[in-house]
Amino acid sequence: MLPTFSSKAFLAPMAGVSDPALRLQCRQMGAGLVVTEFTNIHSIIAKQKQLAENKKTIQEFIQYSEKERPLSVQLFGSDVFALEKAAKIVEPFFDIIDYNMGCPAPHITKQMAGGALLQEVNLTQQILRTLVNSVKKPVTLKIRSGVTDASKFLFREIAEIAEDEGIQMITLHPRTVSQGYSGHSDWSMIKELKEISRIPIVGNGDILTPEDAKSMLDETNCDYVMVGRGAMGNPFLFEQINDYLKNNSYETYSLKDKLDSFFDYLHLTNQYEIKFANIKSQAMRFTKGLRGGSKLRSRITFCNDITELEKVMKDAYSI
Ligand SMILES: Cc1cc2nc3c(=O)[nH]c(=O)nc-3n(C[C@H](O)[C@H](O)[C@H](O)COP(=O)(O)O)c2cc1C
Repeated sequence: MLPTFSSKAFLAPMAGVSDPALRLQCRQMGAGLVVTEFTNIHSIIAKQKQLAENKKTIQEFIQYSEKERPLSVQLFGSDVFALEKAAKIVEPFFDIIDYNMGCPAPHITKQMAGGALLQEVNLTQQILRTLVNSVKKPVTLKIRSGVTDASKFLFREIAEIAEDEGIQMITLHPRTVSQGYSGHSDWSMIKELKEISRIPIVGNGDILTPEDAKSMLDETNCDYVMVGRGAMGNPFLFEQINDYLKNNSYETYSLKDKLDSFFDYLHLTNQYEIKFANIKSQAMRFTKGLRGGSKLRSRITFCNDITELEKVMKDAYSI
């Protein structure tokens, strides 16, 4: 059974972005569910082997905090034997196992994983069956609508298979794989998926404001919304969405609040192993909209360590 979610707004999995510090921050700001960055099933198996030799668990590899719960782990990779093994390794630590069938990156689709799987109906069925039978935790699925414009309605068949195989919730980002992030997500597909499904549907794509979140819920009747890019450097969005859905109003935040929020993020990163390059990218996102922001971002690029980054970001208060 799915856990109970405290909000209708979820944080999307984003490789290099939704690290454990940002996830915790978004959860504390009201996200109902957070999902780890996608993780390769073969890496999980290889790491587990190494870690077990040192009496450590996979928590050292996929880092998280108990405060993030409910927490979903996202897997990718289409080798069903490896999938079963990897799912069993992560199962004890996470509340939901999510499977990625949406990633458009060529290095993923070339391995017949991510979004490329949408056109492989038999393999998809095998994968979802394996996953659901391997674990007792709820399994969910994240998909795009199709691969190319000519196959943009693949989600219909995939969703039917998913439901038959015991998938408990589907997130739809209604762009095709070949679209990448261009154009707009087609929310009418989320509406259609909701109409044909009996399981909860999470709508995803182009939610940047609380108003967008409400529009998606109203227009598509989806059960939950998932926010990706809109939450980058902007964990406030979850509180704003929750307030807007409840009271039709929300508080705005100043640029100083955004900088304070970056320092909260930075403080949280101490507890995890997060690449410094990723932390710098996060810093840049928190400076979006700041006067003199582009100058600041070029200074961030040249920072070599946390101390230098802290100094540059502190200077931002006086811009
Ligand atoms: C930098 C970046 C990394 C992403 N990584 C993942 C990922 O690991 N797994 C996944 O399912 N989707 C990933 N996505 C897609 C998002 O989860 C989401 O579906 C997409 O950004 C559309 O939502 P948005 O318009 O709210 O950003 C990523 C997106 C971005 C921008």
